[in-house]
Amino acid sequence: MKKQKTLIYKCASCGREEPKWLGRCPECGEWNTLTETAVQQAGRKIEKDAKGVPRAYPLAAVDPMEGSRIGSGIGELDRVLGGGIMKRSSILVGGEPGIGKSTLLLQTAALVQTKGRVLYVSGEESAGQLRLRADRLGINKNIMERIEILCSGNLEEIETILNNVKPVLVLIDSAQTLYSDNADSIPGGVNQMKFCTFELIAWAKEHDAALILTAHVTKEGVISGPKTLEHMVDTVLYFEQNDKTSGLNGTVDCRFLRAAKNRFGSIDEIGIFTMGEQGLSPVEDTGQMFLVRRDRRSPGEFPAGVATAAVLEGSRTILVEIQALTIPAKGAVSRVFSDKIDSGKVSRISAALEKHLGLRLSDQDLYVNAAGGIRVTEVGVELALACALYSARTGLALPADLAIAGELSLTGEIRPVHKLPGRVKTASNLGFSAFLGPIPDSPVQGLKSAGNIKYAIKLIYG
Ligand code: TYD
Ligand code: MG
Repeated sequence: MKKQKTLIYKCASCGREEPKWLGRCPECGEWNTLTETAVQQAGRKIEKDAKGVPRAYPLAAVDPMEGSRIGSGIGELDRVLGGGIMKRSSILVGGEPGIGKSTLLLQTAALVQTKGRVLYVSGEESAGQLRLRADRLGINKNIMERIEILCSGNLEEIETILNNVKPVLVLIDSAQTLYSDNADSIPGGVNQMKFCTFELIAWAKEHDAALILTAHVTKEGVISGPKTLEHMVDTVLYFEQNDKTSGLNGTVDCRFLRAAKNRFGSIDEIGIFTMGEQGLSPVEDTGQMFLVRRDRRSPGEFPAGVATAAVLEGSRTILVEIQALTIPAKGAVSRVFSDKIDSGKVSRISAALEKHLGLRLSDQDLYVNAAGGIRVTEVGVELALACALYSARTGLALPADLAIAGELSLTGEIRPVHKLPGRVKTASNLGFSAFLGPIPDSPVQGLKSAGNIKYAIKLIYG
């Protein structure tokens, strides 16, 4: 790789890099810590004319990169990526230890739809451990022939192998184990990781390959390390797990793959997996995964404080049970305990209920949960959340067979939501005989609609 030496000024205390010398580091505020440092930068390919002068070219002449996606062989991963792995792109997969990052990488290595070679670089595990995992995953011998492995985190070694093997897919497990003899900072530090990642991204771009890197995230979600890589890569995926709540329909263990950044697709789609004896497998029937198993025909058993929301996760409709509990506030100020639905949203909805229904919530502590531990961010959950809070506060259970979708404004009005007919249909397919939602643009069969929260409550309770 062609390299140029550049001079930069680097803070000895926090590693911040500045193009000019400064007396005080803008990042950590330390004085006199910036020192002159030479860094190597990977040369970028620049178009040149016959005389060697750099030239620009018309946008129309650029290859639109259509057909540049490689199927990963894992449908849920392709869905999150926006239709497969884009060639020349770099993808960062972050998540807590044990979530399944290495498993996902090895399964991708085995299933990826390419005739080219795959290089799996592990700085975390020994070759023997990788082989054990591959056997456990049931990867057959022929496929294993195609996967080259390298157990090292040394950038120079990796680059040598890359140039020999010329893989179309490079898997790095993990970015945190990368180090280089040429980066003049402490091994294992953020700067080494950034330097190495930058070099690998440049290699992949130049050689028409795709790069996937894993990165650990700590329990608190502090990702000081990987966070600094986010702007360098094209796509950032986070792997997370639900709390293992029991009593759910279907699968109990479920893991979500979400895109936090995606240059080549939307960030709305999520991949849903379950970890089993043979690694990760997709959860296909997601519709009712987040519902608690209950007999919906015997309403006496349906508790107060529970509402079923029909929400969109990317292109899918899922039904999620929203649970609310209100108790007299323990402190002078009431508090909201809600980590699956944004607590600001819970406060806003409860304020709207208090104002427009005269329902006193401001002297209550509010607890809100979503069954199955899924984080619900879509606005369509708001009406169901309002109904759950109303039901919790009044002790009046909602009908067991009612699904709900709608956005609730501060004025108490129920706003339209995307894909309402699809939500109604999914709920009906899953056995919900009633649906409460906003007033639709054109009639939707099976929908009871209300323009405001007052009328909605009247529709439910009569
Ligand atoms: P791993 O992929 O190593 O997680 P990460 O790389 O994110 O740290 O594996 C996660 C867990 O999954 C580990 O505890 C073992 C378990 N596991 C299974 O249950 N089934 C399997 O087939 C495999 C390969 C792992
Ligand atoms: Mg791992």
